[in-house]
Amino acid sequence: MMQNKILKMGRFYLISSITASVLLSGCFGGEDKKQASAEVAVKPVEQPKVEEKVEQPTSVTVTDNVVKDAVEKVEAVKEEVKDITVSLEKEVKATLPTTPTIDGAKLYAKCASCHGTNGEKVALNVSKIIKDLSKDNFISAVKGYQSGTYGGTMKTLMTGQVKSLTEDEIKAIADYIIK
Ligand code: HEC
Repeated sequence: MMQNKILKMGRFYLISSITASVLLSGCFGGEDKKQASAEVAVKPVEQPKVEEKVEQPTSVTVTDNVVKDAVEKVEAVKEEVKDITVSLEKEVKATLPTTPTIDGAKLYAKCASCHGTNGEKVALNVSKIIKDLSKDNFISAVKGYQSGTYGGTMKTLMTGQVKSLTEDEIKAIADYIIK
């Protein structure tokens, strides 16, 4: 029994090794052909890869140009908007002078007969020289005459002179007389 088994296994190995060598020789025999056909098969696979690599930078450049163009267009539009804004501002300013600008010199004209052309006189021999007042003192004096809280013997005369002046007008006269 054991001998039979050993014989059977021996035969099996013999057949196996023959089969293996036949297969191997078949493989080695066709090696050149397989390599050749393998080279042919590899090339078409590689080519598209190379093309893809070349295409990528081109498409990136195209995108760059698109972005550049867009940025340039946006900058151009910004400039246009700036120009429009500037010309609109000019137009608006041109319509504004309908609101009268306060002219200190004009407002002072009626005061000059008593206080002097430049506020350098002692009015009716009583007042201080108004060009020598500080702007703050000038403004508070005029406001005081308006409300009746400031003045000497002739304060009612002055109240009549300054009654209708607005605060901005008083400031404009102060700017004109006091340097
Ligand atoms: C008719 C003359 C006359 C005119 C016009 C006149 N003033 Fe006077 N002003 C006087 C007299 C007089 C005083 C002193 C009044 C007092 O007793 O406080 C005076 C006082 C003043 C003072 C205060 C000076 C101080 O002595 O403390 C100021 C400021 C002043 N005047 C501004 C003006 C301004 C501004 C005008 C024009 C809008 C004007 N006056 C017009 C006569 C005049």
